[in-house]
Amino acid sequence: MNTANNFKVAQTKQSRLKDMDPDNPGFGKFYTDHMMVCDYKDGKWQVPEIKPYGPFQLDPASKIFHYGQSIFEGVKAFKDEKGNVSVFRPDQNFERFNRSAKRMCMPEFPKDYFFDGLDILLNLDKAWINPKNGYSLYIRPFIFATEAQLSAAPATAYKMVIVCSPVKSYYTPGTEGIKVLVQDRYSRSADGGVGYVKNGGNYGASFYPTELAKKEGYAQIIWTDSETHEYMEEAGTMNVFFRIADRLITAPTNDRILDGVTRKSLIQLAKDRGITVEIRDIKVQEIIEAHRQGTLKEIFGAGTAAIVQPLSGFGYKGKDYTLPDVEAPYGESLKKAIQDIQYGRVEDRYNWLYHIKA
Ligand SMILES: Cc1ncc(COP(=O)(O)O)c(C=O)c1O
Repeated sequence: MNTANNFKVAQTKQSRLKDMDPDNPGFGKFYTDHMMVCDYKDGKWQVPEIKPYGPFQLDPASKIFHYGQSIFEGVKAFKDEKGNVSVFRPDQNFERFNRSAKRMCMPEFPKDYFFDGLDILLNLDKAWINPKNGYSLYIRPFIFATEAQLSAAPATAYKMVIVCSPVKSYYTPGTEGIKVLVQDRYSRSADGGVGYVKNGGNYGASFYPTELAKKEGYAQIIWTDSETHEYMEEAGTMNVFFRIADRLITAPTNDRILDGVTRKSLIQLAKDRGITVEIRDIKVQEIIEAHRQGTLKEIFGAGTAAIVQPLSGFGYKGKDYTLPDVEAPYGESLKKAIQDIQYGRVEDRYNWLYHIKA
């Protein structure tokens, strides 16, 4: 196969597609036949290779194991009724990827390599994408430090990889929402820190408080600001929206909060449907007060994996608050609006889809 950038392409001799039940792929359980691998050395990114999915060999002194220089992205590809494959807003993920690289003192990745890689990979592995509603191909680009050197300084060698996993959205309408804990002790991020980027350590550090919350019966955490723990920030891998009466409220992004692609898409879709969206600081007490007055209608998380994840309630300082059942929830209709675009069921008037070139 010849590409604009002369990628080396080695196709698999034996597809593993038949090992997967297309209706039950799980999430991150199966990986497609091919991956992209690109090395950074001698001060530049080398020409990427597309090769059969498989393990790497790494030197034990690789800096990733010691100093945690690693970043990742999460983006989804969809298949329409005619079999065309599109990726949802990958330009946004690409820009965030390089914001993450910059903050973690890693080399930024070239845009043409990223998009050519998507074109080749998704052409080779498009049979893995189930076109049914709720199914997609989760694309995971990541970069990690490979230089074998123990000095605590940025590495001079890295590997950039893209792997793809067929997935089913974990939440379907009609399923009960999840209960979360509004965190008032641990923090995910702090001013001047790395909360706004997707470096691996952000996630590793959140596991312990999340496990403690799970032991108390909560599925996830809503993080609050590290200084006062009085303001709502974001959930595990989702931004959060609160509906009070007919207004949708979400926290502004800053250096503690990830600028979610789903968040910005939902804001646009909601505004275009005439819903008032307020982007402002949200006090936990304001939400508790709205709950007391009966004006708190919905809380939902927004992220690539679930798109919209409704909450059934939340806990805060030892007390649980249950959300009411509402008719025609905003979360559900906004999720449908995004999915209609993703699966090509309506016109893509915002130009959000990147169409894979055959
Ligand atoms: C911490 C965090 N917040 C929010 C999000 C939602 O972002 P997106 O909608 O781009 O998936 C994610 C997922 O990437 C995340 O990891």
